[in-house]
Amino acid sequence: MDKQKLIDGLNEDLSKELGAAIRYMHQTAVAEGFNGEELREILRPDINEEIAHATYLMDKIVALGGTPTTKAADFEKHTDVKKMLEYDLKMEREDIENYKKRVEQADAVGEIGLKVKLEDIIAEETEHAEQIERILRGFK
Ligand SMILES: [Fe+2]
Ligand SMILES: [Fe+2]
Repeated sequence: MDKQKLIDGLNEDLSKELGAAIRYMHQTAVAEGFNGEELREILRPDINEEIAHATYLMDKIVALGGTPTTKAADFEKHTDVKKMLEYDLKMEREDIENYKKRVEQADAVGEIGLKVKLEDIIAEETEHAEQIERILRGFK
């Protein structure tokens, strides 16, 4: 496990965080109807959390001697609120799995501060996923 591999992985995470922030901005802008209004209220605070994750990763990549990406990962655009949420849940779960790998990589190179911070991010992404699961259970 070398540091460059860790930096490359963190850059993938960063791109996905930037994409997540834009995805939630986009979804809460285009969602309509009563479900859309609720989605705005529920998901708007998550935008700032994803931006905070991206900001942390950008700082860390620089601290590790890497070049942070400014490219946001692309995402599927849905207009149906239920489809949006199903896709969000899939993406949040993917992010959690990626961060679990990154925790192991950080540990392998002795980056304990990074490891702990990634675990905090996992905790927040888990809250996002559980929140979306709760909402989806209410859909008939
Ligand atoms: Fe995030
Ligand atoms: Fe998230």
